Amino acid sequence: MKKKSLQVIAGTANQSLAAKICDYLYLSPAEAEVERFPDGEWNVKLNSDIRDTDVFIIQPTCPPVNDSIMELLLLIDCCRRASAHQITAVIPYFGYARKDRKDEGRVPISAKLVSNMIVSAGAQRVLTLDLHATQIQGFFDIPVDHLYAAPVFIKYFQEKGIKDLTVVSPDVGRTKLARVYAQNLGGELAVVDKVRTGPDQVAAGTVIGDVKGRNVILPDDMISTGGSIVLAANVVMELGAKSVHVCATHGILCGDSIQRLNDAPIQEVVVSDSVPMEGLPAGANIKTLTVARLLGEAIRRIHEGESVSALFET
Ligand code: R5P
Repeated sequence: MKKKSLQVIAGTANQSLAAKICDYLYLSPAEAEVERFPDGEWNVKLNSDIRDTDVFIIQPTCPPVNDSIMELLLLIDCCRRASAHQITAVIPYFGYARKDRKDEGRVPISAKLVSNMIVSAGAQRVLTLDLHATQIQGFFDIPVDHLYAAPVFIKYFQEKGIKDLTVVSPDVGRTKLARVYAQNLGGELAVVDKVRTGPDQVAAGTVIGDVKGRNVILPDDMISTGGSIVLAANVVMELGAKSVHVCATHGILCGDSIQRLNDAPIQEVVVSDSVPMEGLPAGANIKTLTVARLLGEAIRRIHEGESVSALFET
């Protein structure tokens, strides 16, 4: 059977990442017009023929979250109606992930609803990165390839050669991932016993482990308000840490989070380009590493029918 050709469609949510992925794959994105009707509705049109092709739509569902999701759904629908052979939603950041269970009465399971919408629109596969909760994979009854940005950050810190290192998980839930960093970087492991007191409020408990006189790396999936990571940085510094480096896959950076990070006792914040990082204010203490190669290689392997699991290794 003749092999289907590969097409990449770049949504508007992160065009610079999509361009880097296309560079990695040595191809140009399919031509898509994403405009707005005067009332604000999206008006989407593909100008490239995608009939019977293997299509990858790159669209993180980052702020403006509702717009990004709706655009993704329309692009998927467009591809389905244009007779694509297979449609993969490449979602480098999956928004609406916080509500992944009904933890009190009368609340939605937003992550499940968004997953249902993506599948209903016509996606046949999802490629994503550092989900807020890994069990969200199970909300899709289609294949999900879930990658981690950890190898990109670990390589960066290996090159820095930080001595007297302790990797501190900013909450109990990230301990497994922090252990991967500690093992790969030859450091010790500690955990901040964080307590969430509201949707955007956190209070630290104790640190499990020793950070006195240590250089600390705090790895997290995302920085939104910066509350969690600043709290963790303050706690470890109060307990005598020498320095704090932070890495987080998704630099959502809401509100005054950049100022908050700048004011915190943090030597460096490293994020990925899963969401657009252009236009940071001058003086922002934030370094961006690209995940284009990781995602590009995953796309290549999915298209070629090769195993992607080697890319899951951290
Ligand atoms: C918590 O469960 C997550 O891993 C992040 O630490 C958190 O969502 C980041 O949010 P914020 O920056 O608002 O504290």
